[in-house]
Amino acid sequence: MPTKASQKSDVTRRDAVKIAGAAAVAATAKRTLAAPGIQTVKAATNLVNYAVIGTGGRGSYHIEHFNGIDGGRCVAVCDVDPKALEKAMASSKDKPKGFKDYREVLALKDVEAVLIATPLYVHYPVTRDALLAGKHVFCEKSLVFLPEEIHALRKLANERPRQILQTGLQRRYSKFYQTARQMIDKGMLGKITHVYAQWHRASLGKTWVPPSWRAFRKFSGGLTAELASHQVDVADWMIGSHPEFVTGVGGIDVYKDGRDGYDNIQLIFKYPGGQKLMYSSISTNKHLPLFGSTRTEFGEMIMGTEGTIHITVGTDNEPATALWFYEPSPKKAEAAKGQEKAAVASPSLLSTGKGGLALPVLLEKDQVNENDSFLQKELKFARQWLYRKGVMVPEETKNPVDIQLEQWFESIRTGKRPLADLEVGLEDSTNVILANLAMDEGRRVFMSEIDKMGGGPAGAKKA
Ligand SMILES: NC(=O)c1ccc[n+]([C@@H]2O[C@H](COP(=O)([O-])OP(=O)(O)OC[C@H]3O[C@@H](n4cnc5c(N)ncnc54)[C@H](O)[C@@H]3O)[C@@H](O)[C@H]2O)c1
Repeated sequence: MPTKASQKSDVTRRDAVKIAGAAAVAATAKRTLAAPGIQTVKAATNLVNYAVIGTGGRGSYHIEHFNGIDGGRCVAVCDVDPKALEKAMASSKDKPKGFKDYREVLALKDVEAVLIATPLYVHYPVTRDALLAGKHVFCEKSLVFLPEEIHALRKLANERPRQILQTGLQRRYSKFYQTARQMIDKGMLGKITHVYAQWHRASLGKTWVPPSWRAFRKFSGGLTAELASHQVDVADWMIGSHPEFVTGVGGIDVYKDGRDGYDNIQLIFKYPGGQKLMYSSISTNKHLPLFGSTRTEFGEMIMGTEGTIHITVGTDNEPATALWFYEPSPKKAEAAKGQEKAAVASPSLLSTGKGGLALPVLLEKDQVNENDSFLQKELKFARQWLYRKGVMVPEETKNPVDIQLEQWFESIRTGKRPLADLEVGLEDSTNVILANLAMDEGRRVFMSEIDKMGGGPAGAKKA
């Protein structure tokens, strides 16, 4: 067994080959909702009976995804808007009953679990009532809206440890993000010092302008809650801690349409180890300087002393993407010089020079291992070559949204703690709430301030 130190200090071409292993037959595995072999619904045994509360944009997206996965049966849907309700009833394969009042859904004995996709200001009341009614919960991000809800939900959920509470932070379920985290654990990026994350748009669609709830502070945490929440969570995960303080500037500089929520935000989160997250969300330009600008809008750059990862989650139309830029310390670059000859057969695989070369981040399933047959190895090496030439790209075979929903069912059946659990959700909401406060008050806001806000923890200490 290599020691942790030797693992950390020895990122050689072999490591690169291991990580940049080779992919499954991604060319044929379509990463769409209808991907064959992935979304087939099996015989209905041991299904989780669930309801969807809030069937607007996200709720109906989830219903569409539920239709393609195993493990549950939608017995009820609920929305205060009759149109959204009708659409949901028609689109679920399970022919669920429709309800206007979520309390009627919570009163149904055969509903074991509820997925909550209401606007942010309605997350907590429904989540609270669902927990009190004994239901398992999946609540969309960001988990809660107000400081007092952080304390109250922590207390309530910790009093009910047998009920699953999962948050809709789907990046936690992405194989690419999980692989990036493993690379960090192996020391392949050195010490992580900075994360840059952005979600830029060239315009705001109709769900973002008045009268949409998202435009108003009374109902919404704006860009911070709706977009940054995903990426601040990624930074916490990759850095491995939670911020110490946040500062930032937000403005209503373009959309003077009656909104009171910012249309652009710039934030810096400082972590206890000195790491920083630099965050930007604007609504006037969608350029993304990552991935050689082949993508737009959103992504994260994780920067370590010995390498960088560009990463972004997939959508229904675009694959998840992750690139690794190996940037060895001068000492390692010197040590690696002797290997340059050995690397001639794969000249584009590893640069020991200026560290400017990108390697695809490959998933575990793609990595060559010693149990592979000769043919399997050859196929993987062939694909690896195609990746390096840019002919193929490694792909996640499942949308992380599907994985998060499947794992929610699994957690309900087994009691296994979700990856995006209560604390992940509450830390994320704390970051969102305090980032907005920092911009509003034009000061550094320390994360510890949350303890004194909203009436304090009220005996609701962290589990
Ligand atoms: N994880 C993600 O990537 C992701 C993506 C989009 C949205 N979301 C989250 O999902 C949530 C919903 O967003 P959306 O885009 O679907 O908003 P939306 O406005 O399209 O839909 C919300 C729905 O909730 C309904 N609703 C409001 N109050 C209700 C109540 N008391 N009972 C039942 N229904 C009620 C509304 O009528 C509406 O149909 C938000 O928290 C948002 O941040 C997450």
